[in-house]
Amino acid sequence: MRADAPITVPALRRMKRNGTKITMLTAYDATFARLVDRAGIDIILVGDSLGMVMQGKANTLAVSVDHMAYHGACVTSVTKRCHVVVDMPFMSYHVSPAEAVRNAGRLVQEGGAHAVKLEGGAERVEVIAAIVNAQIPVMGHIGLTPQSYHVQGGFKIQGRGDAAAERLMRDALAVQEAGAYSLVLEGIPKELATKISEALDIPTIGIGAGDGCDGQVLVVQDLLGMDPDFQPKFVKRYADLGSVINDAIGTFIDEVRTGAFPQDEHSFHRKRRGGPVKEAPSGKYGPTDTDAATA
Ligand code: KIV
Repeated sequence: MRADAPITVPALRRMKRNGTKITMLTAYDATFARLVDRAGIDIILVGDSLGMVMQGKANTLAVSVDHMAYHGACVTSVTKRCHVVVDMPFMSYHVSPAEAVRNAGRLVQEGGAHAVKLEGGAERVEVIAAIVNAQIPVMGHIGLTPQSYHVQGGFKIQGRGDAAAERLMRDALAVQEAGAYSLVLEGIPKELATKISEALDIPTIGIGAGDGCDGQVLVVQDLLGMDPDFQPKFVKRYADLGSVINDAIGTFIDEVRTGAFPQDEHSFHRKRRGGPVKEAPSGKYGPTDTDAATA
């Protein structure tokens, strides 16, 4: 596979067969999507975790199809290589297969999704089959399913006992049988995740599920250490951006207050009569020198 070749559903299947681990990170906006895509990640998940990360809520339950379509479009307007999966939010696939297909279609048409993800096992086979039948690839999600927040009693590890583990194995096989092309395993014992990954033909992507999965997913803000107060066991911090951002903003405050910023190099000047305009700012958001001169 060429390094810049777009990641597709068949490519992800091949990665499992070849034993190449799949990497997936969340992104909810164009700035992060561009960075994640350029860094070489295989899959971007526009997760409904945006309810917590972007909207500041305690869980994902208030996220709507409109929100997901909007954030999906923010991401897919800039990605070039990544496979982009958009989450189906709570209540968007619970009422009927027909409504689920319509909502999944909105995420593809308005959000630019290459695939959708939905939570649940055997109880979701009808819905998964209907969406797949509409030619929309489905990623399953079992174990700790955040949309079951009230039923599971919060964000709780699942499948620790024998009966629960057997149920999750049956769920995984049912989701595959229904036509899903991949499966997220969240918050389950690593031995069980390994066993499920070995039993399935489709790739599994783990979060808090150990190293036996076919790939791994994290929320990008967690991996980058952007929230100093959030450090769950399953997250490894690869950077401490929370401190970097705090220090940078602190320096900005100091420099504005002391007059160290802005300096002449950050300022525009009146056109000198007959002379060329020297500065050529990028004009990405702000005025170019020409705009300033005519303002
Ligand atoms: O919404 C999300 O970010 C997710 C991942 C944690 C798997 O579903």
